[in-house]
Amino acid sequence: MKLFDVYPLYDVTPVKAKGIEVWDDKGQKYLDFYGGHAVISIGHTHPHYVKRIKEQLDDMAFYSNSVQNPLQEELAQKLGELSSCENYDLFMCNSGAEANENALKMASFHTGKSKVIAFSNSFHGRTSAAVAATDNPSINAPINKQQEVTFLALNDMDAFEKAIESDAYCAVILEAIQGVGGLDEPTTEFFQLIAKKCKEHNIVLIADEVQSGYGRSGKFFAFQHHGIEPDIISIAKGMGNGFPVGGVLIHEKFKPSYGLLGTTFGGNHLACAASLAVLEVIEKENLIENAATLGDYFREKAAEIPEIKKVKGKGLMIGLEFDFEVAGLRKKMIMEQHMFTGSAKNKKLLRFLPALNITKNDIDLFFEALKKAL
Ligand SMILES: Cc1ncc(COP(=O)(O)O)c(C=O)c1O
Repeated sequence: MKLFDVYPLYDVTPVKAKGIEVWDDKGQKYLDFYGGHAVISIGHTHPHYVKRIKEQLDDMAFYSNSVQNPLQEELAQKLGELSSCENYDLFMCNSGAEANENALKMASFHTGKSKVIAFSNSFHGRTSAAVAATDNPSINAPINKQQEVTFLALNDMDAFEKAIESDAYCAVILEAIQGVGGLDEPTTEFFQLIAKKCKEHNIVLIADEVQSGYGRSGKFFAFQHHGIEPDIISIAKGMGNGFPVGGVLIHEKFKPSYGLLGTTFGGNHLACAASLAVLEVIEKENLIENAATLGDYFREKAAEIPEIKKVKGKGLMIGLEFDFEVAGLRKKMIMEQHMFTGSAKNKKLLRFLPALNITKNDIDLFFEALKKAL
């Protein structure tokens, strides 16, 4: 059997990693400023993370959601505390797309409606309603198009106010900082208007924090920069630092009932151990503060480089916009400077999504390499 060939691959084979350092099969070292699509939050193979997962593996890797699992309770407790979202309940699943599916499903159950409002350049995943709410027709198959989604321009207050008057919508879903799309953000004014109108019209506001959450923006959740309270928050990526895990934080006003949501693997013991380890490291090493401080340092350094036309994003969720397409630059960064960076739907944008415990020295190394590659 061969692999179903859907990924264009760089000719690099990583075999070992520590912190932001990654080594390939020939012993070449790379610096990882992309974290495998914003997944690596506390650094590769962090000792506390490895220890906790290994210990859990020795005890028990998995049992289904038909028995007591105190690790899930412990995780919900810790997540509530660190994110200041104690008035939400946690439902665990396995990926970002699945988190958004569950969020949209809850919105539909809650309102009895089915249409969704999403925004241009959004990315919410590749399954069912999540892909339908993603602004990329090329990955939205006819079967997914059955889900009706209205796409509005981000920050177009008039268009939003007009659309929300319809009584067909169950949810508004948006990223607090767009990831794949290219680091555009709703303004505070726009976010607050959405939150207010959703409340007035009994429409569920879903903040997709799959990429922007877990401290990356310099606050636990990126929506917290805007003084709003979503009804549902979806999480994944940085939550497990590479262990596949996702979840939805569901406001306590939604009442659960047996069988409403469910999953075989979601919330398994290993996933909980990985997720707890991530939160413990975020807390102990003050990684949210580090993301904010180092993000500011990064911006100061970026301002010294004339080729960079715009710096987008918050904290360590950063996009560097140039006046040329960056595919060649990215290739040079990886093949010649041995540094991983990311691309976006906006082809002129280079994405910088490192682990949240990088240092000023790491950022200096990035800019030295970037100058050479430019
Ligand atoms: C904002 C956002 N939501 C959802 C997803 C989908 O997550 P997953 O690939 O884990 O299904 C992504 C993935 O890039 C994302 O960036």
